[in-house]
Amino acid sequence: MKKLTFAILGMGNRGTVYAKNICNYPDRAQVVAISDTRRVRLDSANKFLQLDESRLFASAEQLLEQPKLADMMVVATQDAQHKDHAIRALEKGYDLILEKPISNRLQDVADIADAAKKLGRTVFVSHVLRYTPFYRQIKELLQQGTVGRIMAVEACEYVGYYHQAHSFVRGNWHNSEQCCPMILAKSCHDMDILLWLIDEPCLRVNSFGDLSYFKRENAPADSAERCRDCKVACPYNAQEFYLKSIPGWPANVLHPEPNEQNILKALDETDYGRCVFKMDNDVVDHQTCNMQFANGAVATFHMSAFNNKWTRYIRIMGTEGEIWGTMGDNKVHWQRFGEQEHTIELNAEQVNASGHSGGDSGLVYDVIRYMQGEEFDTSSVTLIERSVDSHYLAFACEHSRLHDGSLVDFGEYKKQLSK
Ligand SMILES: NC(=O)c1ccc[n+]([C@@H]2O[C@H](COP(=O)([O-])OP(=O)(O)OC[C@H]3O[C@@H](n4cnc5c(N)ncnc54)[C@H](O)[C@@H]3O)[C@@H](O)[C@H]2O)c1
Repeated sequence: MKKLTFAILGMGNRGTVYAKNICNYPDRAQVVAISDTRRVRLDSANKFLQLDESRLFASAEQLLEQPKLADMMVVATQDAQHKDHAIRALEKGYDLILEKPISNRLQDVADIADAAKKLGRTVFVSHVLRYTPFYRQIKELLQQGTVGRIMAVEACEYVGYYHQAHSFVRGNWHNSEQCCPMILAKSCHDMDILLWLIDEPCLRVNSFGDLSYFKRENAPADSAERCRDCKVACPYNAQEFYLKSIPGWPANVLHPEPNEQNILKALDETDYGRCVFKMDNDVVDHQTCNMQFANGAVATFHMSAFNNKWTRYIRIMGTEGEIWGTMGDNKVHWQRFGEQEHTIELNAEQVNASGHSGGDSGLVYDVIRYMQGEEFDTSSVTLIERSVDSHYLAFACEHSRLHDGSLVDFGEYKKQLSK
């Protein structure tokens, strides 16, 4: 079988994750070219990729200027760059793995999907949760009719206080103008999961939420601008937090070689060392969305920064029973009314195989199988045409939140995109 070849735009956290996962299938797939504006990221990835220097590019733009070098392109640059990088790669003839969000702007999401359709390319959106044993098990139970018809779903995304601080207060996704609303950045995954599990068109949404806590007015008295200069005891102390995480995430976001010296330097020189109450962040720290679906089912979704653990919870209430679980527990529970409760233990090896509770490796495996024409159930694969609604739903929720929680007719909202 001919190996499926990949080129990668952006060798940051996600680009590296893809490269490592592709390397897990040496007989079927191979990374043949990479690009990043930071040489240190290229060098770090090339320690395990071992590519010739001529296959390392100093930018996505440089790689895209070459003749087509691979079957597929992984677009893992930042959100605001996706439109340009994805469309240029599609025009060059690449099929894509496109990191979520598809783009940070509503119309750009539609434009990328249109370009893929017109050019006849295959685009997999990185909705990694669909590939996790946890959500796949829930989907299977629903498909088997275990709990009858879905009437209501309660879903929560527990962002976790430390993850909020790292990504959405200090990090890449802290400012909605520079990046995108948090409900898109963090929760387009959850919108996708709700649409996939409920499997009905969404009719109406509304949403409330705010940035209430990570603001200057909540800074402790006597706190400094930077944690390394601060004497206040605080759960967001950057030095404690990042040093503790060496050599893994999130220390490895600050530096590809996350030793103590490199991390302390990054804390002194970048936003990652700043006080969480004194940043220029504007994305929410809690938000709730309500949705109604065509069959009358309803869903509520809560996203909150204020949790010890970073995980997700879901409870599905059907006409004949309930399914529930917390992703990090690796168990799915279900019970038909009046009958005994069941617990399904998930395959720990699969769950721990990669990040996102097995979702990262699951996505890469399914992309390889799909592109090589292997026979398997492809109905859950996150092709762009199936994934755009999750993004439109996130934008619709944000629209409501910014308009005092007003009701948004989702069908009408989407019509603006075809105008
Ligand atoms: N699927 C998921 O669950 C998930 C999780 C986290 C992030 N993401 C998304 O993945 C994407 C990448 O996020 P990340 O966490 O890896 O960020 P990152 O900042 O670690 O990586 C982005 C990389 O792109 C490089 N870059 C910037 N401009 C470039 C250019 N012109 N050419 C080539 N490289 C360039 C940067 O140097 C950086 O190394 C974002 O869109 C993000 O929202 C998805």
